[in-house]
Amino acid sequence: MEENIQTQIFNVLQNASAGFQMEEIGEKLGLTRHTVAKYLEILRAEGKIHYQKAGRAKLWKVLSTAVVTRLLGLDDLEDILRIAEKVERSDNSEKVARMASLKETAVYQLEYGDPLLNLGAEIDGKLAGFIFGEVKIWEFGRGEKTGWIKVLGVDQDFQGMGVGHKLGATLLGHFKKKNVKKVRTLVDWYEGDLISYFKSLGFSMLGMLPLEKEI
Ligand SMILES: CC(C)(COP(=O)(O)OP(=O)(O)OC[C@H]1O[C@@H](n2cnc3c(N)ncnc32)[C@H](O)[C@@H]1OP(=O)(O)O)[C@@H](O)C(=O)NCCC(=O)NCCS
Repeated sequence: MEENIQTQIFNVLQNASAGFQMEEIGEKLGLTRHTVAKYLEILRAEGKIHYQKAGRAKLWKVLSTAVVTRLLGLDDLEDILRIAEKVERSDNSEKVARMASLKETAVYQLEYGDPLLNLGAEIDGKLAGFIFGEVKIWEFGRGEKTGWIKVLGVDQDFQGMGVGHKLGATLLGHFKKKNVKKVRTLVDWYEGDLISYFKSLGFSMLGMLPLEKEI
């Protein structure tokens, strides 16, 4: 029965390239909003469907090709910078400096970083996102291995399709295999989407304040 509803919803979406809202699916199949919501989430967790936001509405669609994660190499540098440039929000003069710094970080990561912590996500053979991590051994005098997420970006054309989630979850899995017990990152307080992204991966706020001095 459960599998049947799931298949029915999937079939409805498969025949709608423009996508459907939850209410439309419910009407077509005679199902309640609650039931449709439940099965949409199951199908999404299985990586079969995704939604795109259209104003306040969510349009559910079949994910034509799976999101594939893989290790990154120096050959990917150009694509990484292309994505970073697209998602970077700072204005012109600051943007140039941030892009130069990102390039330096990316080259360093790709040349000397742990390959398992430099990950990319592909859709239809195209790089759709990247994430860089590293392990620090002696963190704030606590003597424990800490994983850091240094930078990530998902191409705007592929946002909201679970690419960021897959990259983050895969990186966390790799940290875990390296016996890392804690993973940290720094996010500007006003970056609401990044904060909610990290929350969705299970991150919570740390009781520490970052301090800085220009020298
Ligand atoms: C944040 C970011 C990584 C999310 O990637 P994504 O592939 O669109 O995210 P996913 O589709 O996997 O979504 C995972 C979760 O993140 C959160 N999220 C993603 N985009 C969001 C948005 N615009 N607003 C609020 N929450 C958002 C949600 O909790 C979402 O879970 P849900 O779909 O169950 O609601 C992506 O938007 C991005 O690259 N932003 C720019 C990052 C940046 O500034 N990098 C520095 C420059 S190099």
